[in-house]
Amino acid sequence: MLSGRRILLGVTGGIAAYKAAYLARRLGEQGADVRVIMTEAAERFVGRQTFAAITGNPVERDLFDGTSVSPHTDLARWAELVVVAPATTNLIGRLANGLASDLLTNTLLATRAPLIIAPAMHTEMWEHPATQRNVAVLRDDGHEIVGPDSGELAGGDLGPGRMAEPEAIVAVVEKLLEHG
Ligand SMILES: Cc1cc2nc3c(=O)[nH]c(=O)nc-3n(C[C@H](O)[C@H](O)[C@H](O)COP(=O)(O)O)c2cc1C
Repeated sequence: MLSGRRILLGVTGGIAAYKAAYLARRLGEQGADVRVIMTEAAERFVGRQTFAAITGNPVERDLFDGTSVSPHTDLARWAELVVVAPATTNLIGRLANGLASDLLTNTLLATRAPLIIAPAMHTEMWEHPATQRNVAVLRDDGHEIVGPDSGELAGGDLGPGRMAEPEAIVAVVEKLLEHG
């Protein structure tokens, strides 16, 4: 159970963003307090109201125009654990190189909470040397990479790149929180 645990969910702009809504629901069912940061691209795939309704919390997206003076540090300190699902190759590349260009990347760089990253993209993007290089950097930095799974991708293609199933991600969240 994740009763009262404060979990920050970052959602980036891939087709699998719809699976993040289910992940938020599963975390909420376990009793977690879930807050969501969406990237601008993520909002092209799923509306922020969906996550707000599922979590009962307003969704964060803006570094400068929200109600908080310093949203990235507030969220970074609030979180006991951070999950980015789905994680685009763009997010992976930015984080691996320490680029803080939006609210999500600023928060990821500002937090000391453990971080789980669930990549999701087409096989060609996943297997690209740049993506593999960046994922290796994130692993080396101590972050937990979950998936991607192999299977059917958007458009009917087959191969590695599917976001790990929400249940598998919840299992890793429980494991990391249990081990302090
Ligand atoms: C229809 C469509 C689907 C996309 N799916 C993915 C995806 O699954 N994974 C990925 O890495 N990028 C995907 N992209 C590209 C990202 O949306 C793009 O790189 C964007 O800049 C990511 O921004 P973000 O990382 O800030 O969310 C997709 C783009 C389109 C138009």
